[in-house]
Amino acid sequence: MCYDTLYEAVGLTAIKYGPLHNAFPDPDNQEDIMEIVVKHDYEEMSRFAAEYIASFIRKKPDCVIGFATGGTPIGTYKELIRMHREEGLDFSNVITFNLDEYLGLGIDWSKPYSRDQSYHRFMYEELFCHINIKQENVHIPDGLAKDPEEFCKSYEAAIKEAGGIDLQILGIGGDGHWAFNEPGSSFDSRTRVEKLNKQTLDDNYEAFFRDAGFSREDMPRYAITMGIGTILEAKNIIMLASGRKKADIVARALQGPVTNEVTASAIQLYRGNAVVVLDEEAASRLVMLTGNAARCC
Ligand code: F6R
Repeated sequence: MCYDTLYEAVGLTAIKYGPLHNAFPDPDNQEDIMEIVVKHDYEEMSRFAAEYIASFIRKKPDCVIGFATGGTPIGTYKELIRMHREEGLDFSNVITFNLDEYLGLGIDWSKPYSRDQSYHRFMYEELFCHINIKQENVHIPDGLAKDPEEFCKSYEAAIKEAGGIDLQILGIGGDGHWAFNEPGSSFDSRTRVEKLNKQTLDDNYEAFFRDAGFSREDMPRYAITMGIGTILEAKNIIMLASGRKKADIVARALQGPVTNEVTASAIQLYRGNAVVVLDEEAASRLVMLTGNAARCC
């Protein structure tokens, strides 16, 4: 997939620059590039991200997309739903793999629908129920798996069998995590069970559990997550962040040292096409190294 071509299709421009930390430069690899696109606000960020994803699907209708949950991509998913309804964006051949799921949560399809805070429920309510995706093409880590370790191996195998992930959508956690790869996770980690740290539990309690009437103690302490190594194998990455409270961690991930204390800093090692879409607040701590490292467009 040629990123420039894709970008032309989107019809928007962005600044391109190579890795800021030249720890692993590869001057011969034209695609070893990270682009940062700064949009004015959350709505513009979401529209841009959705247009990017949609143009990807139009070019490769049977593409494999890695989906993320969380507050950040909700606007993007809303826009994808609109494009499906109003513009006929076709998801019928798209294959999906979600990044993560809480251990102990999930949808039991044999039982009547019940409200829970699983990422399964999130994905169906925020996106999958509103588009023409085929259920057999949807893969979300099974938080209800009897043998989670075995499940993790089978998830990795399913990704391989699908030909790998063409486009991985990512957010960034307050502690710099990608998926649920908490600080200290190895950059070659694979899909596995991970213990959630306090900041993640606090953030996700506030964002998703509190208003749904759950107590902090009800929150699962573990999750199944794709590993950083799994994510880095995706052929393209689109990472989203919005709001002032993400500004510091975004700057650390994109411009700070590459460290597994901020697992999203692995983006600086990524060999492929990475686009980071931010709103102005999330971009506000980025250092403008040459005056054009990032800009509004
Ligand atoms: C969710 C995921 C997480 C979120 C991150 C940011 O599938 O992978 O890494 O992307 O926790 O969450 P929000 O968007 O709620 O700030």
